[in-house]
Amino acid sequence: MKNHSNLHSDLKTLVIVAHPDLKTSRINQRLTAELEQRGKVTVHKLYEIYPDEKIDVGREQALLLSHDRIVFQFPLQWYSSPSLLKKWIDEILYKIIFADGHAKADSHAKGRDKLKGKELLVAISTGGTRSMFQAGGRHNFTISELLRPFQQTANYVGMIYRQPFVVSGILEVSDEQLESYAREYADYLES
Ligand SMILES: Cc1cc2nc3c(=O)[nH]c(=O)nc-3n(C[C@H](O)[C@H](O)[C@H](O)COP(=O)(O)O)c2cc1C
Repeated sequence: MKNHSNLHSDLKTLVIVAHPDLKTSRINQRLTAELEQRGKVTVHKLYEIYPDEKIDVGREQALLLSHDRIVFQFPLQWYSSPSLLKKWIDEILYKIIFADGHAKADSHAKGRDKLKGKELLVAISTGGTRSMFQAGGRHNFTISELLRPFQQTANYVGMIYRQPFVVSGILEVSDEQLESYAREYADYLES
């Protein structure tokens, strides 16, 4: 039986980086660079590939279907992802799950089969510090709670939701800590 408690290094991993401006980014830029240096995963920079925000559905579906683990990497913005990733989810997942039309009873089941067993892992950076993400704190909810739409989307399409990778309190992250986050992140995706 497959043991889902560990990540498997033989899985093909697609990292969808959804940062609106990677050039001005500190955290996501460094995390992405580490993955690119190691060359073990497919790095797919959504805003650079689609500056006009018109997503090539066929290309993205093919990418999704040819990988076993999908990573959504983004800076938390208004407690969610930047809008182009939401658009990607709306267009790509919807069209896979309801390829034969929403009205057909077996459409969802067929679409679900295509994604069943793939993994979804969310990797985010947040301005808020860890202690702000709790009841009574500035952001009131935990990161797990705020990421529930991603978790339930994974459940709904038959994917396995992995433990998120989080870099919080970005203003307090030293250059040294950022280096170790980058290594930890790449190790997590490869190990
Ligand atoms: C439009 C916008 C909305 C943001 N919303 C949040 C938020 O809801 N919670 C939070 O902790 N940080 C928020 N931030 C801070 C970003 O998460 C932070 O700047 C980012 O993670 C830094 O990553 P980078 O160095 O890769 O750009 C927001 C930033 C922007 C620009």
